[in-house]
Amino acid sequence: MNEHPVTDPPEAPDRTGLAQPLMASPDRLASIDHLPAAPVDHSPTAIPMAPESPPPAVAPPFYPTQYPADPHYLAIFTRNLTQYFGTKLAVNNVNLAIRRGEFYGFLGPNGAGKSTTIKMLVGLLRPTHADAILVAGIDVWRDPLRARSLMGVLPESLNLYERLTGREFLRLAGSLYSVPRAEIPRRADQLLEVMALTADGRTLIADYSVGMRKKIALAAALIHRPQVLFLDEPFEGVDPISSRVIRDILQELTASGTTIFFSSHIMEVVERLCTRVGIINQGMLVAEGTLDELRQRARVAGGATTLEDIFLQVVGADTQRGNLPWLT
Ligand SMILES: Nc1ncnc2c1ncn2[C@@H]1O[C@H](COP(=O)(O)OP(=O)(O)O)[C@@H](O)[C@H]1O
Ligand SMILES: [Mg+2]
Repeated sequence: MNEHPVTDPPEAPDRTGLAQPLMASPDRLASIDHLPAAPVDHSPTAIPMAPESPPPAVAPPFYPTQYPADPHYLAIFTRNLTQYFGTKLAVNNVNLAIRRGEFYGFLGPNGAGKSTTIKMLVGLLRPTHADAILVAGIDVWRDPLRARSLMGVLPESLNLYERLTGREFLRLAGSLYSVPRAEIPRRADQLLEVMALTADGRTLIADYSVGMRKKIALAAALIHRPQVLFLDEPFEGVDPISSRVIRDILQELTASGTTIFFSSHIMEVVERLCTRVGIINQGMLVAEGTLDELRQRARVAGGATTLEDIFLQVVGADTQRGNLPWLT
């Protein structure tokens, strides 16, 4: 078991029969369709269930049950992706199956588990448990270098090289991602241009504004033409003009077959861009579908029509104003 980085803690039994990586055999892949959909408790202190025990209680609403036979054809596939921080369950048995070319919006309130999920998907944070994490068909934690070469990442906190200029930073990113040497300057300059950063190409990143930093980080994430792009809150702190630029680029990318997985709590952007939306709350994927599908289900459940209505309905937000008598 030690050679595989993503396993149960030693005392937790493998109740799914899939603690081994999914890359193993076609039989194993076929068998994922028959896994129980109910979340499994992977906490380090979990008490093993007796076989006759009822399954864990939570069966989230709107939950997808259909998975394709071979997840290797998907852009993103996870099975029971789970993260504990101490005893805090930050990501709870999240199952994703995202097709290539999808523009997937990952919505959730602050602290829902969006960034943690993304960090596990891109190989930055080792999951407490996962039966599978495939990106572009590659097991992220078994073959991290290959997986990383196929993905672009705009992380939550941008750790940029402050003492490089924008242009130098892009060239560095190009060489780190093994872009052919002759190609690097051309791609770097083109990226600067589409991001409207050409005039700032020789400015140190330390002197960039928040929006400029987002754009240069996005440019760096694109320089190796990734198949799957992970963006954690790409529009946070970005002015409307830069926001428009980023949106247009993202739309062009999906039109040319790139898969985009992006987290946001800005409904309007998600509503405008995404082909499919997943809503995460308290670590659980509580709703998933196209906007139309979500609307349809929300209407049945109580009349919500905008994504914001759906979101508030699904996460059960208390929209009552807080009681702050001392403030008014
Ligand atoms: N490194 C960490 N250590 C402890 N708790 C963390 C850590 N990272 C995130 N958390 C907790 O996990 C939960 C999910 O966080 P996060 O994934 O950042 O949420 P989101 O990105 O949806 O706002 C939060 O309760 C947060 O406080
Ligand atoms: Mg976050």
